[in-house]
Amino acid sequence: MFKHEWRRRVRLVEADLLNELRRTESLDKNLMRAMEYSLMSGGKRLRPILLMAAADAISGNGEKFITVADALEMIHTYSIIHDDLPAMDNDDYRRGKFTNHKVFGEGLAILAGDALLTLAFEVVLRQRGVPDEVLLAVLREISIAAGMAGMVGGQALDLQSEGVQIDLTTLRLMHMGKTGTLFRAAICSGAILAGANEVQLENLTRYAANFGLAFQITDDILDVTGDVRLLGKPVGSDAKNNKATYVSLTSLDAARQLAQAAVEDALHALENFGSEANFLRELVQYLLTREK
Ligand code: IPE
Ligand code: IPE
Ligand code: MG
Ligand code: MG
Ligand code: MG
Repeated sequence: MFKHEWRRRVRLVEADLLNELRRTESLDKNLMRAMEYSLMSGGKRLRPILLMAAADAISGNGEKFITVADALEMIHTYSIIHDDLPAMDNDDYRRGKFTNHKVFGEGLAILAGDALLTLAFEVVLRQRGVPDEVLLAVLREISIAAGMAGMVGGQALDLQSEGVQIDLTTLRLMHMGKTGTLFRAAICSGAILAGANEVQLENLTRYAANFGLAFQITDDILDVTGDVRLLGKPVGSDAKNNKATYVSLTSLDAARQLAQAAVEDALHALENFGSEANFLRELVQYLLTREK
């Protein structure tokens, strides 16, 4: 039931993403091709699905906000195109295919990332049926999360942690930045769009922080224990780049325990919600057994 519902939402998001991309004018067709290559190359579509699931937990009509949900997937896609570049993690495979720069060259890959980031903000403004002030609040949430206080800031910390001994507090900060903030933006945007009250928003923010943490810890674990064929991206990338990760700083067992603790805290954060938050509960629990 959960997997079925997830797949249904993936299909919904993918159809809408392609539609939003293709209705946008581009001066250059190769740029458009490079954008579409990564945007439509599969992926779990977690951020858009989380946005809609958070809105569902509040008002039950999450799918109404699919346009803002698309924007988050565009930002995520830009972040991984740039993350894979030779100047960053230098990886050749993503989602079972060649990385963007392997196919289109570094220059166009950088530009495809830039254009996806910019398009995301235009796409937020295409969302219908939401009062302007609510959309502004969401734009604020997303722009802060994508930038130096969020994803880009975390990526900067990550780059500079290569070969350097950092402590768990710094690692946590780095993970919250590079991965956690986009999840938080997705969940909080869904909550804001659906009209969450202060307490609901607080609880969902706590859920989001733990979701992001558990997600990145399990990403670090999969970089060591994962199966390339399922994962679709190389294993051992972190070790290759001397990255500080939860596994390198603690141990596989300790990392698993930390992920478990984060999932439990995420579930506690949903205590005041009823069955309308079941999809959120299933999603965070899936992190502990995910293989990709
Ligand atoms: C990978 O994210 C990048 C990180 C933030 C660790 P996902 O695991 O969500 O990637 P896709 O979109 O499903 O491929
Ligand atoms: C990437 O983290 C986070 C972002 C893209 C913002 P990783 O470098 O661990 O992601 P993967 O493992 O390459 O997907
Ligand atoms: Mg990286
Ligand atoms: Mg990487
Ligand atoms: Mg990783």
